[in-house]
Amino acid sequence: MCQALLLTHQRHSSDEDPGPTLTFSLVTVCCLCLGPYPHGFPGSIEVFILFLKGYTASIWESSIIQPSVIRIFHFSMMILPKKMKPLLFLISQMAIFALFLHLYGHNSNSPSTTEEPKPMHVLVLSSWRSGSSFVGQLFGQHPDVFYLMEPAWHIWMTFTHSTAWRLQMAVRDLIRAIFLCDMSVFDAYMKPGPRRQSSLFQWENSRALCSPPACNIFSRDMIIPRAHCKLLCSQQPFEVVEKACRSYSHVVLKEVRFFNLQMLYPLLRDPSLNLRIVHLVRDPRAVFRSREHTTEELMIDSRIVLGQHWEKLKKEDQPYYMMQVICQSQLEIYKAVQSLPKALRERYMLIRYEDLVRNPIARTAQIYEYVRLKFLPHLQTWVYNITRGEGMGNHAFHTNARNALNVSQAWRWTLPYKKVSRLQKVCSDTMTLLGYQLVRSEQEQRNLSLDLLST
Ligand SMILES: *[C@@H]1O[C@H](CO)[C@@H](O)[C@H](O)[C@H]1NC(C)=O
Ligand SMILES: *[C@@H]1O[C@H](CO)[C@@H](O)[C@H](O)[C@H]1NC(C)=O
Ligand SMILES: *[C@@H]1O[C@H](CO)[C@@H](O)[C@H](O)[C@H]1NC(C)=O
Repeated sequence: MCQALLLTHQRHSSDEDPGPTLTFSLVTVCCLCLGPYPHGFPGSIEVFILFLKGYTASIWESSIIQPSVIRIFHFSMMILPKKMKPLLFLISQMAIFALFLHLYGHNSNSPSTTEEPKPMHVLVLSSWRSGSSFVGQLFGQHPDVFYLMEPAWHIWMTFTHSTAWRLQMAVRDLIRAIFLCDMSVFDAYMKPGPRRQSSLFQWENSRALCSPPACNIFSRDMIIPRAHCKLLCSQQPFEVVEKACRSYSHVVLKEVRFFNLQMLYPLLRDPSLNLRIVHLVRDPRAVFRSREHTTEELMIDSRIVLGQHWEKLKKEDQPYYMMQVICQSQLEIYKAVQSLPKALRERYMLIRYEDLVRNPIARTAQIYEYVRLKFLPHLQTWVYNITRGEGMGNHAFHTNARNALNVSQAWRWTLPYKKVSRLQKVCSDTMTLLGYQLVRSEQEQRNLSLDLLST
């Protein structure tokens, strides 16, 4: 008996352009005669297998191919004539050596070749009232971006008596499908019958749905006010959404309905996605104040988040419990990132809303650079303008950074210290971690010359 080893390495079929890194991926076969079974493999073979496993793991990490496409088969071969054995052994060693060189050659090239041309997928992960509409606009107005705001709203509003926990997998699958521009995923969450692009929640926040190929009235590289778009582009059929999505290099989704990162691991590792997560956080005290003003609007969402606790909690306790869930989830996301392998950790960026509103141009430049978007001149003027309240008029955006700078401090003079103190108790870990200093007295809270943001 003689042991042989067949190593196959296949191209991932759905990968349209996996890049030159995979040119070696044709089936590579080493048929090795390794001496009589059961003496086992020579050491060099085991080392080689380990090497190959390590190598494929690193490809897998970089999300080019899935581990399932790499298979290692063992099979037994018929006994060969005694005389053939030394010759075959020699040939097999040469084959291994050649394969080794081949793999190494490509490996060393990989830094220049991993610049995949496939679309970049960006998930803006945030919570309610955390400035995510503003950040969403930064993406949405970019001419290379197909942007949708809170697509999971459709799921939550379809199952209003469910819980965030039960709906999370549906949300994840929806996000994945939209990243791949498969809009049929909305079938389950929209009324049957003909629909328009205006059936999408907050569609007019997406400049991509207001310009070609979705709507030919505005041009792609214009800043398009929501109100104008809503007026002129609402009659387009739903099919244009998918068509528009496929014509962009970046698909950006803003979502507030995620509460942990573990659930997103499969997306981070998915070879058909090129995912970046932009995690936007905000001072919980400012979020709390802002939520107080929008309690009614957020009612259905809050009930889904609190699940069975909703009924049991006293009305005045609900906002604190809600904030506890939000703070906890931010803490867990942050911690989960620290335990990710380095390659995946680089797919995550944390932004504090306060840093953004204090220095909008510089921070926007950082965010764009991170997701490889150009900060085009007209966008620079636009960010400059809106953060000074110029140029667009009041109705153009829900929020601009100039208001936000003031609003982000508003809790300090509007919230009673009692509430702040109670909130700080449920959110202290998260606040400490994210650099929001706690106030220890009413005096500290009201003293605006005390900067509560640590760097
Ligand atoms: C910026 O503001 C100026 C002055 O109000 C205006 O003329 C210009 O069109 C604005 N630019 C953009 C890109 O909004
Ligand atoms: C911030 O807002 C408050 C109340 O809305 C106002 O009294 C104050 O003048 C504003 N401050 C700045 C710097 O705009
Ligand atoms: C406000 O904070 C500043 C900076 O810490 C401090 O110097 C000042 O004394 C404080 N004012 C009051 C009234 O507490």
